[in-house]
Amino acid sequence: MPDNIDNLLTETRRFPPSTEFAASAVATGDLYDQARADRLGFWAAQAEGLLSWQKPFTEVLDWSDPPFAKWFADGRLNVAYNCLDRHVDAGNGDRVAIHWEGEPGDSRTLTYTELTAEVKKAANMLLGLGVRPGDRVVIYLPLIPEAVVSMLAVARIGAVHSVVFGGFSAESIRARVDDAGAKVVITADGGWRKGAISPLKPAVDEALAVGTHGETTVEHVVVVDRTHSDVEWTEGRDLWWHDLMAEAAQDHEAEGFESEHPLFILYTSGTTGKPKGILHTSGGYLTGAAFSHRNVFDLKPETDVYWSTADIGWITGHTYVVYGPLANGATQVIYEGTPDSPEPGRWWDVIEKYGVTLFYAAPTAIRGFMKAGRQIPAARDLSSLRLLGSVGEPINPEAWVWYRDVIGGGTTPIVDTWWQTETGSILISALPGVTTLKPGSAQVPLPGISIDVVDESGTPVENGQGGLLVVTEPWPSMLRGIWGDPDRYRETYWEKFASKGFYFAGDGARRDEDGDIWLLGRVDDVMNVSGHRLSTAEIESALVSHPIVAESAVVGASDETTGQAVVAFVILRASQAESMTPDEAVKALRDHVAHEIGAIAKPKTVFIVAELPKTRSGKIMRRLLRDVAEGREIGDTTTLADTQVMSVITDQHRGSQ
Ligand code: PRX
Repeated sequence: MPDNIDNLLTETRRFPPSTEFAASAVATGDLYDQARADRLGFWAAQAEGLLSWQKPFTEVLDWSDPPFAKWFADGRLNVAYNCLDRHVDAGNGDRVAIHWEGEPGDSRTLTYTELTAEVKKAANMLLGLGVRPGDRVVIYLPLIPEAVVSMLAVARIGAVHSVVFGGFSAESIRARVDDAGAKVVITADGGWRKGAISPLKPAVDEALAVGTHGETTVEHVVVVDRTHSDVEWTEGRDLWWHDLMAEAAQDHEAEGFESEHPLFILYTSGTTGKPKGILHTSGGYLTGAAFSHRNVFDLKPETDVYWSTADIGWITGHTYVVYGPLANGATQVIYEGTPDSPEPGRWWDVIEKYGVTLFYAAPTAIRGFMKAGRQIPAARDLSSLRLLGSVGEPINPEAWVWYRDVIGGGTTPIVDTWWQTETGSILISALPGVTTLKPGSAQVPLPGISIDVVDESGTPVENGQGGLLVVTEPWPSMLRGIWGDPDRYRETYWEKFASKGFYFAGDGARRDEDGDIWLLGRVDDVMNVSGHRLSTAEIESALVSHPIVAESAVVGASDETTGQAVVAFVILRASQAESMTPDEAVKALRDHVAHEIGAIAKPKTVFIVAELPKTRSGKIMRRLLRDVAEGREIGDTTTLADTQVMSVITDQHRGSQ
């Protein structure tokens, strides 16, 4: 790759940890040394130190049947006990586990004692409905305390949850219910989003309608009364949560299950075909969750107030709202609604109200706030914050610096955390008291994690070069498979580098001169223009570094002459771009990319748009943008958060070379 397309790697700003932060940091550089000296011994020590085992394990890793790993296989534990009872037993029952904030402004606080009591009752409720160890329970709820209670109650009795994001359609629910063979669905009448009630129960009714889809495995639907809305009722099948909880016995002894007992299935989209049910199990997953949450976020459970804005419908909501924080006895905030309801400063109000110290959000949200302007957060007191996190996609250096300056008061470390539904927990991130931060780079594998960047043949690339991200050794929180489809598991993740035994993550990455890792987006987003490989992330980063740009998405569109051509979609910052005509803005941006990266990366076409098509989890749907760029009819838009956005985009201003 020629040097002139090294835009991301020319970022030279560096942020070493402050002396004060480093002096009291939870994680020190010793962790790297310990893990290097004895990787399996290191993980055994984490599993023993961070968790409470009903029966201690003697074996750390069984990799005799790759790629099917077993961690801590002869140990037994109860995941919910680890997240609840043991904190109460240790005298921390009065500590707040959850400060819940509803979108309309209602709120609830649950201490560890109270949360434990709720989960015990819910466990008895599920047992009463005939749910047994290994049975699957689908959870389709808004971000309310009952969502956390449900997940932990399912885990407590050794059943398996499959959370379906509250924004998904009836079709998606049905596909997941059928694939998992779920016995019970837990839902609510609705939840609050953008100032209105967003119904949930009707989608479950439609999903389970025998007339449309045939018989289901679901025996009962438990309904939480969140919004007091009218709902259709199927007698015998549907039951109110509050009725069952009122009847449920209060005591429940947590039984230990094998370390490899299934904990949850979470569906995620692959490049093709039906969603994959990613399977995670108990002991290894909880070890990865607790270890990374404590060390990456520098968690001090006695004093910190942690907030991850993720929904429980995503892996971040599993590992860094439920399992990691609660296993560590943290106090956390959960918030039901959208960041800008009822007004654009809502997130910052929540931080001020609860004195949040550790904050974890996605770059897309950060860029949205950049677009809205710094005056909104500036009007709040955010001085409680002492660490910020980022997850889900590469964070552009400009957004990173804005996040640190405007939200973090110019002092907080930012941990840019790379991981996937499949990895279960963070694998690449700075340790905030140790690592000198580089905006835009996720930087280094966590202690005990073996990551490499390799070429197509599996050979590690030199520093300064790009390639494919792989995990070279099994890790405790790794997926154990795709539910019901071992062949797809092998093919998707292990076949590409079968001779080396590497896990193929599907992400492109580069190592800089120091060996630090820069994520370049999915390899399916890599373009080939006139024989040169270009990353969408690199060009997007260049565009966003221009002052008139708030957000951008770049796709490779087929082109007769060059194979693929770069097509950019940009949202302008109104305040910065008002003196320009659209044609001037397009020219300025094409020239800017050429200047930042090289003429090869200059977008052939720039669309100025008001919105970008995003999934409900905030990922840009490049497939749809490719349809626009290639002049095709727009494909399936059902997973978009806003299904209207594509008709808006096709009408926007377009400027070409
Ligand atoms: O491409 C990487 C990107 O998100 C993908 C995983 O998506 P998902 O399973 O939905 O999990 C998202 C939350 C962990 C990865 O293959 N990704 C995630 N975090 C980062 C990232 N890309 C760059 N930098 C990150 N910090």
